[in-house]
This record gives sequence, structure tokens and C-alpha cells, in this order.
Amino acid sequence: MNLKVDEVIGHVGDILTDTQKKRGILIHAFQQIQKERNYLPEEDLIRLSKKLDIPLSDVYSTATFYKQFYFTPRGRKIVRVCTGTACHVRGADKVLGRIKDEFKIDEGETTPDLAMTLETVGCIGCCGLAPVATVNESIVGEIDMKRLEEIVEDIKSGEG
Ligand code: FES
Repeated sequence: MNLKVDEVIGHVGDILTDTQKKRGILIHAFQQIQKERNYLPEEDLIRLSKKLDIPLSDVYSTATFYKQFYFTPRGRKIVRVCTGTACHVRGADKVLGRIKDEFKIDEGETTPDLAMTLETVGCIGCCGLAPVATVNESIVGEIDMKRLEEIVEDIKSGEG
């Protein structure tokens, strides 16, 4: 069979229902909103629900299906401390404990000034650098006391 691209797309377009097409738009809209706001504010979800004529409960169920979307404000820095086996053995608890104590937040929480959200993560594949954390897109490895204090100071100063 030798189909042309537009024939395939045309066919896909034909078999998708209006609801399925709207859901595609929804996911794209979620990504854009989260890129700008760092989470999905309720007022934006209500607006999407009205604009696309999709029940708000469906908007929420679509968003909650994907782990990538958040419903509360997130910090400018997302710190993820690896608690995988190698990192655990090499002191992940101390790293996590120090950050929790300094910023008075628990895992999954965000500081009131939105400076940081603290999370834990399973092995991120850098076991040789344990203990490891990520700060936004950067990987910080071999976290000793000195490096840990640098991480804390960077978060406080909004740098790093
Ligand atoms: S256990 Fe932390 S990077 Fe593998």
C-alpha cells in the first residue's frame, strides 16, 4: 500500500470525533498555560471549559491523567533529591533533611515566596555521582556539606 501523507492525515481527521479533537487542543493549551504560569490555575481551566464547551470535570480529568501538569503554584526552582538506593546509601536523607529544615517545607511542597518546590525522585541514572539532586534542568552530584550549602545559598539568592 502506498498512501500519501495527506491521505493518512485526512483519514485520521475523519475518524476523530469533535470531542477527541478538543481533547488534543486541551493538552496543547495545558502545556502553554503551564509554560507561562508554571501550573494550571483554576480560572484558566474554567475558561478553557467554556471556550471549548467541555465540562469542567472532563477538563480536570484530562489534566490529571498526565503527571506533568500541576494544579498549585510551583517554585521558580524545582529541586529534586534522588532517593534511589545508591543515593540513599550515600546520604540522600541528609541532603533532603537539610533543605527541608532550611526552607521549612516538606517533600512535594513549595516555599511561600515560590522560590522553590522540593521533590524526591527515584534513581536518575547518575548513581556514580551519588548523592545526587537536580535543580531545574541541572544535575548536582557528589553532594557533600559544602555543595549542599551552595545549593541552599543558590536557592535563597534565586541563582544557580
Ligand atoms: S540512585 Fe540516585 S542516581 Fe541512581
